[in-house]
Amino acid sequence: MPADAPPRPTRALSGIQPTGRFHWGNYFGAIRQYIDLQPAATGSSTSHQAADEAYYFIADLHALTTVREPSRLRELVHAAAVDLLALGLDPERAVLFVQSDVPEVAELTWLLMTVTPMGLLERCHAYKDKKSRGLPADAGLFTYPVLMAADILAYDATVVPVGEDQVQHIEVCRDLAGTFNHLYGDVFTLPKPRLVEGGAKVPGTDGQKMSKSYDNTIEVFEEPGAQKKKIMRITTDSRPMGQPKDPEGDHLFDLFALMAPEADRQAMADLYRRGGFGYGEVKKALVEASASYFADARGRRAALEADPGQVEGILAAGAARARAKAAEVLSRARRACGLSRGEPANPKAGKGRSA
Ligand code: ADP
Ligand code: TRP
Repeated sequence: MPADAPPRPTRALSGIQPTGRFHWGNYFGAIRQYIDLQPAATGSSTSHQAADEAYYFIADLHALTTVREPSRLRELVHAAAVDLLALGLDPERAVLFVQSDVPEVAELTWLLMTVTPMGLLERCHAYKDKKSRGLPADAGLFTYPVLMAADILAYDATVVPVGEDQVQHIEVCRDLAGTFNHLYGDVFTLPKPRLVEGGAKVPGTDGQKMSKSYDNTIEVFEEPGAQKKKIMRITTDSRPMGQPKDPEGDHLFDLFALMAPEADRQAMADLYRRGGFGYGEVKKALVEASASYFADARGRRAALEADPGQVEGILAAGAARARAKAAEVLSRARRACGLSRGEPANPKAGKGRSA
């Protein structure tokens, strides 16, 4: 690129599976970053984080490999949309849609499948983990990274905000895009992963990484009474009341630190170092901190829940915008590999699509 060329616009894209209601790990590890990456509203100043465009989708095609109950899948997709909007995803600033509303992605998956070495997929952790536990895996799980690559390439995404566990899949995506481009010309934009700042793992109620698979989650919009009970049951060590403790690495403190205002966080760290407190006090403080941190989002959620038509309207508008973009990329890919008769092979070749 010449030195005086304008910087290439950044397009952020990410997907989240509707396999359960979102928990604190999903929010602090993924969703919060999606929200920060949205372009600023017109007229307001741009945050240094923001991308020029943002596309976010609910990955229902991926969820099909785990959620086998149609009515539950429908509910989870709708709830995911409501939760994302309530948490700050703004349809004026980002394109929010459901993965399966863009069928172009399925066709693109096939094109990519034809350049995917088996060995590459055999090394991918979702499939490898299941196999190593002796569980039967279907071809959907095996080829999952190819669908994910199509998700990203269909929108010419340049940056993909993800957690640590998804970086391998972005590498696969770059690999497949590189092979396709090598064979057929410059068709796909190569994306880069963007890791959550610090890459912190949000701990669950037992101190391990919070995850649905460990049954240690606290859901963002859980009913307050049930949520309080879960918080009060967070495991702690057997340190006596009077003894000081280093807050660093204590999972209860880590959860509090995610949600409490800076001054409260400092005060709590001092209390840990001084000693003379019980974990019950910390848990009560965490109940309050989480209630006030998510109070606005809960309010927005209640309003959205009362108006399902509005939510479905947002998803339909998002799907229309996403489809227009995906159709353009798919047509580029079809022409390049010889699936369109009577059209030039690759009109975009040589335009330099690598991000
Ligand atoms: P789960 O482990 O509960 O099934 P997912 O794998 O669906 O969660 O996670 C969706 C997104 O949330 C991913 O980007 C993942 O990196 C992020 N995420 C999930 N759990 C955590 C956690 N405990 N800490 C940080 N990020 C997390
Ligand atoms: N595989 C991701 C997860 O489980 C979700 C996902 C699907 C995704 N397609 C994507 C993330 C494309 C980023 C880009 O968390």
